[in-house]
Amino acid sequence: MSQKKFANSHPHHHPHHHSCSFCLLNRIWRRKFLLLSIVLIFLIITITITNSRLNVFSSLFSPSYKFQYNQQQHQRQHLAASNKDNGDTFNNNNDDKMNLRNHQHLKADNYMSNSYNNDNDNIRRQSVVYIHPPGDEQQNKAYIPKNRFIHLDLKGAPPKVEYLQQLFPLLRQAGANGILLEYEDTFPYAGELLRHAVADNAYSLSEIEDIKRLAKENGLEIIPLVQTLGHLEFFLKLEHYRHLREMDEFPQAICPSRNDTYELLTNMIDQMLIAHPDSKWLHIGCDEVYQIGICDRCKHKERDELFLNHVKRIATYIKEKYNVTSIIWDDMLRQFSPDFVKSYDLDKIGVEIMIWTYVDDIYRFIPTQNWMFYAETFPKIWGASAFKGAFGETLTVPNIKMHLDNNIAWLKALDEQESSFKEIRGLVITGWQRYDHLATLCELLPSGLPSLVIDLLTATNGKYESKLLEKFHQLMNCPHQLDYTYNTMGARLFTQYPTFSHLINCDFPGSKVFRLMQEFENINKRVDDYLYDVTKHKAWLTDYNFRHNITSPWRIREGLQDYANVMYGLKSLVKMAITALGEIYDEYTVYEWIEEKLYPQLLRMEKFYNQTIKIQELRVWPRRPIKPAVDLQRFIDKINKEE
Ligand SMILES: *[C@@H]1O[C@H](CO)[C@@H](O)[C@H](O)[C@H]1NC(C)=O
Ligand SMILES: *[C@@H]1O[C@H](CO)[C@@H](O)[C@H](O)[C@H]1NC(C)=O
Ligand SMILES: *[C@@H]1O[C@H](CO)[C@@H](O)[C@H](O)[C@H]1NC(C)=O
Ligand SMILES: *[C@@H]1O[C@H](CO)[C@@H](O)[C@H](O)[C@H]1NC(C)=O
Repeated sequence: MSQKKFANSHPHHHPHHHSCSFCLLNRIWRRKFLLLSIVLIFLIITITITNSRLNVFSSLFSPSYKFQYNQQQHQRQHLAASNKDNGDTFNNNNDDKMNLRNHQHLKADNYMSNSYNNDNDNIRRQSVVYIHPPGDEQQNKAYIPKNRFIHLDLKGAPPKVEYLQQLFPLLRQAGANGILLEYEDTFPYAGELLRHAVADNAYSLSEIEDIKRLAKENGLEIIPLVQTLGHLEFFLKLEHYRHLREMDEFPQAICPSRNDTYELLTNMIDQMLIAHPDSKWLHIGCDEVYQIGICDRCKHKERDELFLNHVKRIATYIKEKYNVTSIIWDDMLRQFSPDFVKSYDLDKIGVEIMIWTYVDDIYRFIPTQNWMFYAETFPKIWGASAFKGAFGETLTVPNIKMHLDNNIAWLKALDEQESSFKEIRGLVITGWQRYDHLATLCELLPSGLPSLVIDLLTATNGKYESKLLEKFHQLMNCPHQLDYTYNTMGARLFTQYPTFSHLINCDFPGSKVFRLMQEFENINKRVDDYLYDVTKHKAWLTDYNFRHNITSPWRIREGLQDYANVMYGLKSLVKMAITALGEIYDEYTVYEWIEEKLYPQLLRMEKFYNQTIKIQELRVWPRRPIKPAVDLQRFIDKINKEE
């Protein structure tokens, strides 16, 4: 059967074909061309007749008009969903649900990513969905947080000290005066009690001395962070520490009713504070403790009591032994009775809370009554926003607009709340590297750097203003021409380039990685599109064809046409990843990223190629009807039985 006949004589069999008939295509194109010409002529006439009409016209086609409705719809849906989700508390007997929600700082994420996956397409989609531009500049007055700290989440992928050496001056120039250092398994804990949990690629003590020196040289105060109740996966996942779990099933929370728990935690705190003798604060975590009051020793006590006793015991230890102030994340407190929390007098031992939320509607997650409760109980507080790691567990580049909105909202909230507290210590801009210890990587530090810098500049300025873009492009070391263009673009930048892909021409610490991520989005999509086209969209190289040896060799040739090109792009990306990531990370992290992001695509491509080459060798094909796959019967039997 010739191609032409095939396509022309049975067009109704191929409602979606794109390549079947050149004649047909030609006809369609001719018609389209005619139509286009008419539209164009109409347009030109419209333009020349009246300018004002053009404005109306163009605004109709601007993304803001087109997607406003969608945006509101989406937001409402997400908010409804997240509200429901957020409503459950300890008291609701919702254990199962809570246990499942076992990732770091999930609420902001829930807010956005449920119905979106994380591919490039969706990043683009998000960008047009979220269009209210930052910088209602006149509206907010400036609020400059005293401390502007950057959270460095090092868990399971420590950047090289040489990279931090480039990074810290940039942080200083953008206005940071401190870092919240979350080593997790990258701290070289020594001694029989702790050493089993240390990653093989942890920093050495002398590297930590370097990090401290570099921080000091750049005016960055260090607050170390050690988890002391939940998120202790890096210990508890190991057989060696298994007996300390609150629930054997979930290696997240440690049992607060065991003496050996305290032995472990105080040892950890000792080593951390000995390594950081100048620290005025120690962040002791305590967020997202989903398993508490469950084990045999704990189940007779109330959860809030267990939690607060634990915090008090740890914070007292730290205060008495080191004269250091403890900070905890606030999320567990949100669900407790204010009076009960108050009765613990945590402020007497100086405990400060770090209130976190990563959305642009702070009061939705921290409602006014919570602020009032906090104000009565904790005279000194911190706010925590995010520059990455909050809107999708496997993203490669953060959506800059969404993070900036979060930071702008925080400045406003802190300004509004300032009079209620003795002191607002400052704002910590968090950047998560994994959603928890057991998760794969989310956005890497260098690919989140533009987001970090614009958020930091905004905090340092007290509010967002488009003039910050000039400083931003300078700090990002962008070509002058780019600097000029984007300064004048203002808010449009945020909607059209939500990941700031225009920065691929700039030269900042880790910009190669930033470029890699942008390139990854392109190539990844190309591979997806290609494989979708040949194995799903077209009808000759699907699983069914492979399974039953039925295909058209003519079509195989067509299917393989782009293979080499796509594969070349993918292989080039692997090379690029090795170089770019190798400048920042050790080979474990380089390989981890490649295995997470590129290896699956390499395998899919190779598998497709292997199958195709094999089926291409056929010279005879089966007579119909073709027997169904043997294994299919298994499912059908099972389904019938269930009925
Ligand atoms: C835990 O330690 C306390 C004080 O050091 C002691 O009184 C108690 O008996 C210990 N409990 C267990 C179960 O060992
Ligand atoms: C504890 O530190 C504070 C300052 O952070 C200082 O004023 C105070 O004297 C110190 N207390 C002791 C017992 O060292
Ligand atoms: C398809 O062809 C291959 C190679 O000729 C053969 O090994 C395989 O058994 C065939 N499969 C079916 C389902 O006929
Ligand atoms: C493809 O075929 C090669 C050669 O037979 C084999 O080594 C490889 O494992 C196959 N790849 C996949 C993904 O099946």
